[in-house]
Amino acid sequence: MLSDKMIEALNEQINKEIYSAYLYLSMSSYSESQGLKGFANWYFVQQQEEIDHAMRIYNYIQEQSARVKLKAIDQPQADFGTPMEMVKKTLEHEKFVTSLINNLMNLAIEENDHASRIFLQWFISEQIEEESSVNEILDKLKLAGEKGNALFMIDKELMARVYTPSSQTE
Ligand code: FEO
Repeated sequence: MLSDKMIEALNEQINKEIYSAYLYLSMSSYSESQGLKGFANWYFVQQQEEIDHAMRIYNYIQEQSARVKLKAIDQPQADFGTPMEMVKKTLEHEKFVTSLINNLMNLAIEENDHASRIFLQWFISEQIEEESSVNEILDKLKLAGEKGNALFMIDKELMARVYTPSSQTE
């Protein structure tokens, strides 16, 4: 059984994951408007993964016979500057999400909530991957620069990302 505090915190995390999806959908649309189809694809897939994260928590709350309560989603910004600025913002956002997941884990430990600890373990690992894949893109942008051919090559690489539901990657 989940504590009221844990139910509230998990509901808040659903909101943050859906906001992440919204933010990345906005980045996808911005990339499309800049002619960066690979970036648009990468962010679109990222958005799908964020919805998966939200649904994972949604299902967990319900499995624990608790109530999901959806909250208003903040409006994301619409313009993100250069690809480098956009990717830096993405990394910053993922670091923020990592801190939220860590707070949830701290709460589970504090409350001796072993079920939530096991549940949250997946998110701890996922955040390592999320930060690492964004860092990889950032490194490439730093190395290759953001102009002409180099950016075209990075954009082409990002076009290859394909969505796989997270339930199939365990
Ligand atoms: Fe759901 Fe990108 O963290």
